[in-house]
Amino acid sequence: MNTILVTCATSTIGSRVVKNLKNAHVRVKAGVRNRAKGRKILRDVDVVELDFEKPASYLSALKGVEKVLLILPVIPNQVEITRSFTKAAKEQGVKKIVLLSGLGADIKSSSDILRWHGEKEKVVRKSGISYTILRPGNFMQNYIKGCYSEMCGNGKLTLPQGDAKINQVDADDIAQAASNVLTNFGHKDRIYNLTGYSYTNMEIVDLISNITGKKIEYEDISEDTARTKMKQCNIGEWMIEAMLGLQRACKEGLMEAYSMDLKDLTGKGPTTFAEFAIRHKTMFSS
Ligand SMILES: NC(=O)c1ccc[n+]([C@@H]2O[C@H](COP(=O)([O-])OP(=O)(O)OC[C@H]3O[C@@H](n4cnc5c(N)ncnc54)[C@H](OP(=O)(O)O)[C@@H]3O)[C@@H](O)[C@H]2O)c1
Repeated sequence: MNTILVTCATSTIGSRVVKNLKNAHVRVKAGVRNRAKGRKILRDVDVVELDFEKPASYLSALKGVEKVLLILPVIPNQVEITRSFTKAAKEQGVKKIVLLSGLGADIKSSSDILRWHGEKEKVVRKSGISYTILRPGNFMQNYIKGCYSEMCGNGKLTLPQGDAKINQVDADDIAQAASNVLTNFGHKDRIYNLTGYSYTNMEIVDLISNITGKKIEYEDISEDTARTKMKQCNIGEWMIEAMLGLQRACKEGLMEAYSMDLKDLTGKGPTTFAEFAIRHKTMFSS
C-alpha cells in the first residue's frame, strides 16, 4: 500500500520526482495522459494512464495509492479538475496529497495562474486529506525550453518583465524537496515556499553571456509585442493571456521572495543561476 502516484509524470518536476523515487526504491506510479510517450521518458517504472480530461482514468490510477504528488497542467479548468480528482483520491483512501502550487499563489490575484494556484490550494486544504503545499518560484529550466529559449535563440531575451527581480529555482532542487516531503515523516498541513535567489533578466543574460562567451541581450518589451511573439510560438490564446498576467505579476515584483524552506527540506542551499548556466552551458551555447 506504500505506493506514491505522481501526476503529470512527464512534466519538468514530475519526471524528476519519479526518477528520485525509483532510485530510492520507493513504489511509484507515473500518471501520464499518453502511455507510449510516458514509457519513452520514464524507463522501468509503472506508467499508468491519468488524463485529467478523462475522469474515468482517475480510479485505476489511484488504486492502491497512499500518497499523491499532485501536479496540474496549466489549463483553465485545473481548479475543477483538482476538486474532482481529490474527491476520487479521498474515496480511494489516499492518505496524503503533496500539491505543486506556485510562489505568489493567491485566490485574489489578478493573474489567472496565481489565482488558480490559490484556488487549487484551497480545494486541497479542504479535501479532508492530509496535505503539504509546495510553492516554487520560476523554474530556471524555462530558460532552456519552450518560448523563453526561442526568445533567447537570436541572441536576445525579450520579455515584458521590466527590470524586476524574479525568483529563479532549479527544477532539480524542487524535485529533491518534493521527493523528501513524499518519503519522510512530518510536513503535515504545511506550506513551503521553494525559492532560489532572485535576479533581473539583465543579470541573467549577463551570467549566460559570461559563461558561454556568447553575448545575449535582454530587451524589456511591451505586452503587445510579447503577445505577438507568443502567437509566433503557436501558443493558444487563453494561455497567452494567462502567461501575460503572470509576467505582469513578475514585473510588479510579486515573484521576488526568499525563504529558507528549500534548504530546510533538502539540507542544502539553492542552486544559483550561475551554477545552473554552467551545467547547461552547451544548451545555452547552441
Ligand atoms: N514552469 C514554471 O516556472 C512553474 C513555476 C511554478 C509552478 N509551476 C506549476 O507547475 C505545474 C507544471 O508546470 P510545468 O511548467 O512544469 O509543466 P510542463 O513541464 O510543461 O508539463 C506539463 C505536463 O502536463 C501534462 N498534461 C497536459 N495536459 C494533461 C492532461 N489533460 N492530463 C494529464 N496530464 C496533462 C503534460 O503531459 P504530456 O507530456 O503528455 O504533454 C506534461 O506532463 C503547473 O501547475 C505550473 O503552474 C510552474
